[in-house]
Amino acid sequence: MENIVLVGFMGCGKSTVSKLLRDKTRFRLVDTDTIIEDRDGCAISRIFFEKGEGYFRGLEAKVLRELSGLEEALIVSTGGGIVTAESNLPLIKRLGRVVYLRVKPETVIKRLEGDTTRPLLMGEDKLAKVTTLMNAREAAYEAAADIVIEADYASAESIAEEILRVLR
Ligand code: S3P
Repeated sequence: MENIVLVGFMGCGKSTVSKLLRDKTRFRLVDTDTIIEDRDGCAISRIFFEKGEGYFRGLEAKVLRELSGLEEALIVSTGGGIVTAESNLPLIKRLGRVVYLRVKPETVIKRLEGDTTRPLLMGEDKLAKVTTLMNAREAAYEAAADIVIEADYASAESIAEEILRVLR
């Protein structure tokens, strides 16, 4: 089986599903956000705050390029905005089979209630923020994806099983 790359909006379940996929496949799990935090030695919210989104996007694109060079079998969990740079799309697609976990804005709001780790969703009127960002990104998620899974109501376990059923 090829590498599996998970894309989708914040709160769609990429982290949870990717861990299940790792356990089921024994592929190595890599998470672009975690790599960036480990390297920079600080949280993503702090990177955004101190150096700006542009700087973060540069790191994200660099990590993606590096992952493309790895030979081992991978489950790749990506940051929700990785598709915003058009030049990332061919890299994402080349990395493996791409699964888009699609959720509704209301699902994101419910799941990320009280979350303080997503700088793009801080402040007032979260629903408007999520809806605007999601609308702006939808076409890019779809363009990247080999498979689209509606991830609002299904359990992470059933989503992971569905992905493996389709890809195996
Ligand atoms: C972002 C999503 C986050 C993280 C950063 C920016 C985005 O990752 O990369 O806060 O632009 O959607 P998750 O999708 O894992 O929350």
